[in-house]
Amino acid sequence: MDKIALGCDHGGYALMQEIKKYLEEAGLPYEDFGTYSSESCDYPVFAEKTARAVASGECSKGILICGTGIGMSICANKIRGIRCALCGDCFSAEFTRRHNDANMLAMGARVTGPGLAVKIAETFLNTGFEGGRHQRRIKLMMELENR
Ligand code: RB5
Repeated sequence: MDKIALGCDHGGYALMQEIKKYLEEAGLPYEDFGTYSSESCDYPVFAEKTARAVASGECSKGILICGTGIGMSICANKIRGIRCALCGDCFSAEFTRRHNDANMLAMGARVTGPGLAVKIAETFLNTGFEGGRHQRRIKLMMELENR
């Protein structure tokens, strides 16, 4: 089964442990690209490692967590091939999969509590891309990388 790439900084470390617990219970394989403790670190380092695993196809999707989710999502979206959506609700998580074919989810541990964060991750991982007219838009979106 496709692996899910995980990455966090110190601000996201505790919440990432909850996400890992959910993935294990759901039988979903993952690879953890760190950080591995709540000791202060630089989120771009972990965003890049995790996003590259998704961009290369080594992992099919990715989840990033920092304090706000913002730094992680900005970094991930600088990697060619990544469509990372910062979500704080299940509606956004569902529609970023259905319409944007997002391949990474970012969340903010200081914004979103663990119960909701797990539901957001579950929604993101279990929702498919609709294709159709959205496929054309994704193509236009990804062409922006070549401008
Ligand atoms: C770290 O203090 C914090 O800046 C980081 O977790 C994140 O929120 C950045 O966007």
